[in-house]
Amino acid sequence: MKVLAVCGSPRKGNTEWILRKLLDEVSQAGVDTELLLLREMNIGACDGCLACEAGGKQRKNICNIEDDMQGLYPKLLEADCLIFGTPVYFEMLSGQLKTFIDRTCPIWTKLKNKRIVGIAVAEEGIGKAMQNLRTYAAVCGMDWVGSVTALAKTPKEASKRPEIAGRLKILSRKIVRVVKERS
Ligand SMILES: Cc1cc2nc3c(=O)[nH]c(=O)nc-3n(C[C@H](O)[C@H](O)[C@H](O)COP(=O)(O)O)c2cc1C
Repeated sequence: MKVLAVCGSPRKGNTEWILRKLLDEVSQAGVDTELLLLREMNIGACDGCLACEAGGKQRKNICNIEDDMQGLYPKLLEADCLIFGTPVYFEMLSGQLKTFIDRTCPIWTKLKNKRIVGIAVAEEGIGKAMQNLRTYAAVCGMDWVGSVTALAKTPKEASKRPEIAGRLKILSRKIVRVVKERS
């Protein structure tokens, strides 16, 4: 049982705090967790070569770009549940998370039936960011478990709001339940 969270914020801020809190709750139930901080990784933009589709429906499952994404493909394939966390930028998901998502092209068909959770943080309004995450989940045929959205601006704001922690606790219980169901 493994829950893998991906943080799409370029700063150590609210999204990261929320993901850490959520993973902390999940790991207390004996589930393995890991947090990927995209801001610490070298992940280039998809160059659209479509070499990953060279085998037609039997994709090659490899990407020609040699960067940190190579080490993430096995982690994504192993995980039972993914958590995608994004700050809201111009009412959409962050560029950092979108770059990562585009680079899942070599394996996206293999993500089918995995569980996925969405986290989005904005100053004023979530806009289409959660819809962006849900669209990706639907395209991949993943099962949507749930989401938490939060309004916060400065990096530590979310951590000072107990009601956010309360909602994360509830979501963590759901994640643990669905992950254990499958094991
Ligand atoms: C480039 C940029 C665009 C933003 N666009 C929005 C927006 O459209 N709506 C909003 O409510 N907040 C917006 N914000 C505010 C962030 O979503 C907010 O500060 C959030 O807490 C960032 O999450 P983080 O702390 O995890 O990085 C934007 C911030 C940046 C830097």
